[in-house]
Amino acid sequence: MASSKKENPRHIAVIMDGNGRWATSKGLSRSEGHRAGADAIDRLMDSSLALGLEYISLYAFSTENWKRPVTEIRSIFNLLVEFIDSRLDKIQSRGIRILHSGSRKKLSSLVLSKIDRAADLTRKNKKLTVNFCLNYGSQEEILTAFSKLMEERKRKSVSPQKAVSGKELEKYLYTYPLPSVDLLIRTAGERRLSNFLLWQSAYAELFFTDTLWPDFGDKDLKEALSWFGRRTRKFGGLENG
Ligand code: IPE
Ligand code: IPE
Ligand code: MG
Repeated sequence: MASSKKENPRHIAVIMDGNGRWATSKGLSRSEGHRAGADAIDRLMDSSLALGLEYISLYAFSTENWKRPVTEIRSIFNLLVEFIDSRLDKIQSRGIRILHSGSRKKLSSLVLSKIDRAADLTRKNKKLTVNFCLNYGSQEEILTAFSKLMEERKRKSVSPQKAVSGKELEKYLYTYPLPSVDLLIRTAGERRLSNFLLWQSAYAELFFTDTLWPDFGDKDLKEALSWFGRRTRKFGGLENG
């Protein structure tokens, strides 16, 4: 059977894991690992632009990551601020749009002002959308979405008997109106979703690699894309329609 050329995934989600292990293996501090992880994000943006990709969601800090020592949390947020300060001009000039998905609660006013400024400055950019999932957890997202939806229904006097549809709920997710995830990549050998984009990844293809996030580069991305191209997506139907 002739193989047909498959298209690139529209939306790629990345669980950037392994910064700590990368640092430990080199006798460095965990914070150095996160710094190297930030450089890998930079490379991923370059590769994604070169490949003409549309949407990338990056898991940068989960709602569960608050369990980590306060010194590590501080270093992650300092790096994020530094990342935006040092790369925003480049991001803007290359036509990248920045979005934030996640709860604003618990984020400092400095962090909020940086991500809001990045999103605002880049809002009209069309080449590539990079969605930073920061203080993000799917369960929190779905619960928050559901209560916002219920409030809105109450305000509009919609009967509580009227069933809630998936389409209606999706409008209240942090990621709205991004398309659902086609390809989810997790680095560093773990095979779990860790509360990332659970609703949006319902039919995502899952690519796991042992590569630690700071070592992830163009070659790894291309490997994931070529693996994705070999999947047959059925969405519950049959292969040929
Ligand atoms: C991922 O790397 C980055 C964040 C969770 C912020 P880790 O810090 O989880 O690295 P490992 O899993 O300890 O190696
Ligand atoms: C997931 O990685 C969160 C991010 C990459 C931001 P973790 O390292 O926090 O996940 P677990 O704890 O191994 O599941
Ligand atoms: Mg980890």
